[in-house]
Amino acid sequence: SESNQFCDAGIEYGEPGCGISSSSSKILIKGGTVVNAHKEEVADVYVEDGIIIAVKPNIKVGDDVTVLDATGKFVMPGGIDPHTHLAVENGVLESIDDFFSGQAAALAGGTTMHIDFVFPVRGSLTAGINSFKFFMAYKGAVMINDEILLEGLKKCKSLGALAMVHAENGDAVYEGQKRMIELGIIGPEGHALSRPPMRFSLHDLALIPLQLEGEATSRAICLAGFVNTPLYVVHVMSIDAMEEIATARKQGQRVIGEPIVSGLALDESGLWDPDFVTAAKFVMSPPIRASGHDKALQAALSTGILQLVGTDHATYNSTQKALGIDDFRKIPNGVNGIEERMHLVWDIMVESGQISATDYVRITSTECARIFNIYPRKGAIFPGSDADIIILNPNSSFEITAKSHHSRSDTNVYEGRRGKGKVEVTIAGGRIVWENDELKVVPGSGKYVEMPPFSYLFNGIDKGDAKYLSSLQAPVKRFKSTD
Ligand code: URP
Ligand code: ZN
Ligand code: ZN
Repeated sequence: SESNQFCDAGIEYGEPGCGISSSSSKILIKGGTVVNAHKEEVADVYVEDGIIIAVKPNIKVGDDVTVLDATGKFVMPGGIDPHTHLAVENGVLESIDDFFSGQAAALAGGTTMHIDFVFPVRGSLTAGINSFKFFMAYKGAVMINDEILLEGLKKCKSLGALAMVHAENGDAVYEGQKRMIELGIIGPEGHALSRPPMRFSLHDLALIPLQLEGEATSRAICLAGFVNTPLYVVHVMSIDAMEEIATARKQGQRVIGEPIVSGLALDESGLWDPDFVTAAKFVMSPPIRASGHDKALQAALSTGILQLVGTDHATYNSTQKALGIDDFRKIPNGVNGIEERMHLVWDIMVESGQISATDYVRITSTECARIFNIYPRKGAIFPGSDADIIILNPNSSFEITAKSHHSRSDTNVYEGRRGKGKVEVTIAGGRIVWENDELKVVPGSGKYVEMPPFSYLFNGIDKGDAKYLSSLQAPVKRFKSTD
């Protein structure tokens, strides 16, 4: 398992000792369209000492207040990325983005908080962790079997912690990888071919679902249902996995599905790039799928089958990726996204007309805050909420390149991508940390956010347990035959 660690972004960027941020602790955001998950309205937002004090039209202030004009722009809760791996050790090496560069990238892209995975050392868990991730893949490394998954689900339920799964059939993936190597397919394309979502049927020569991801998703859902505890499926990458979640939710089971930006915005074609460095940067698990899965995941997100968007930001530079030059199994798994998520989701989902601005706030911030039990301190622009705010200009545009991004990686899986809607200002903890394409941050200002257990997903779970018990037939009294 992995446990999560929750961090406000904003720490440790800039020269050590670079001092106090130039922005005042009093900020008025004037005339923007304030968007919360439940509604949008034209209003001013007044911030003092890191907290939102007022949200209403025509707020008057003195001259000690920094005023930002947001006319014609959207004022929204800072993004919360539910799934990142900063400074992660994969057993061989450490990812290139640590909390320093990863959080800088986050802030530059309008994300003010991220939920990071840590591999706990026995006995090292800190207070405030309310979720645990279980790996059903990575055989020989962190993969667990169903027996341990069941134990984990029971433990999570007793703690009021959310169980998360990386759902792929790890045994079959392992076998598929060996098969590719035996066939001489050693390049990054072997990564996709070893664990496809579809296979040929000999019966009618049609593509039928293979479901290495779907099978594990279904198995995890089955076991979580058996234990009667909520389940969160991380990085939903394929139609088959998404449909398992849809079915379970239709049946009333508490299952959350998290697509990630790479699954929504990319297809697998990059893995076939003749240049190894280019192809290797797309290697992550579960793999980025064929074109079509991306659109289906977008549709599922727009209709509420999937609930929030993460990134799974886990970056390795081209030197690190080159460990697998002769064997795709040795390419460190992971892609970037912490800086690109807010922009790409706006462009792909809102600019395209698939969802509203309010839905955007829900899937990039509010629902994450609710699931991890920190709403409305986070995920909302309400009086009393933390002042984590972005100003997005829908008429401005963004362009993504490794040259200008804030990650330490020398590559970017979204290289050259342009789109509409730009995060022009990021306010984290009441301070302007991103403005005019410049980061202005105070070292050490990030905070560890403690997350209480028993989120809304646990409401009524005990009633379900009681119903189950009372539905059991009374035991039958049997007598031994005496003759
Ligand atoms: O390839 C990936 N996804 N790397 C990060 C670890 C994980 O499985 O989430
Ligand atoms: Zn994973
Ligand atoms: Zn991950």
